[in-house]
Amino acid sequence: MSNLNTMMTPIIWKNDQLHLLDQRELPRSETWLEYDDAYAVADAIQTMVVRGAPAIGVTAVYGVVIAATNIWKEHTTEWQQHMDEPLTALANARPTAVNLFWAINRMKAVLNTLPSRISPKAALLEEAVLIHQQDIEANQQMGKYGSSLLAEQSHVLTHCNAGALATGGFGTALGVIRQGFMDGKIAHVFVDETRPWLQGSRLTAWELMKEEIPMTLQADVAAGALMASGQLDWIIVGADRIAANGDTANKIGTYSLAVLAKYHGVKVMVVAPCSTIDWSISDGTNIPIEQRHSFEVSSLNGVSIAPDNVAVSNPAFDVTPAALIDAIVTEAGVVMKPSTKTMNAIRLKEML
Ligand code: MRU
Repeated sequence: MSNLNTMMTPIIWKNDQLHLLDQRELPRSETWLEYDDAYAVADAIQTMVVRGAPAIGVTAVYGVVIAATNIWKEHTTEWQQHMDEPLTALANARPTAVNLFWAINRMKAVLNTLPSRISPKAALLEEAVLIHQQDIEANQQMGKYGSSLLAEQSHVLTHCNAGALATGGFGTALGVIRQGFMDGKIAHVFVDETRPWLQGSRLTAWELMKEEIPMTLQADVAAGALMASGQLDWIIVGADRIAANGDTANKIGTYSLAVLAKYHGVKVMVVAPCSTIDWSISDGTNIPIEQRHSFEVSSLNGVSIAPDNVAVSNPAFDVTPAALIDAIVTEAGVVMKPSTKTMNAIRLKEML
């Protein structure tokens, strides 16, 4: 099993600092940025230096380590009382991916048990590294479960980037594709460019080409014609938040793909760790959808491509109803035909 020291990860803790691979610059340059301030970490999440649901959760836990370490230097005895502000800044960085709140809550649980007079750094760092490592292990387990669902030499389509870059390492949807390729299950991967931020063309294509997995990049609007051609077996995507009934929020465009898939008889697989499931909401109507800045739509590489002051809608995610999903793959097992009832099996396993 790969671990933190051997895995390709966009997040590294080194020399008492958080290092993030700047995903805004990929694939043109591999630039690492260093962080020793929790508010700067929150900003990195908001501005997409790091993105992808599990990756922003893992980043935030290191942000909590940084916040506590810095606060303890100034307020040695009552440092816990000063943590609300940086924790809120981290939690407010992005609204849809529930992994962010799940990860911060795990750190809070440790934080609240720590004595006031001892530096919190070692205990919090230990929990952060554990969360990071567990995310990688979950991805590897999901890779195996997901690969087992594929027939030999499958042709698959993925949307956005749910790879090593979007997680602690290995990837969710791309983890299944990686494992599937190693198992002889993947013949070819079609990659949606994923307008407007282009996670597909900039990040997924970069990851797949590095590993020499056969792939073709296409415009998002080409997906319907590809399905009509009969070439596609599965659509494999990640998730930002899954409701208790299996409704799934993921990158904008996933819902359209799932509707097209139903019409064409293509199967849909959602791959996400249990930390992406929000058991507190019964269905997808309650998932908050992030609206991002208009310039992401009205410009390309900083150059305006629309009339000045054009009105823009830029929802970053949409919700795919569970009825359009064939399988949800988690590290705790696979849910076929997700519904409140079938999802409960995962919930029970999580409680064990
Ligand atoms: O806006 P992003 O790039 O953070 O959106 C990412 C996605 O939608 C991914 O599919 C999702 O977070 C799963 S990542 C393993």
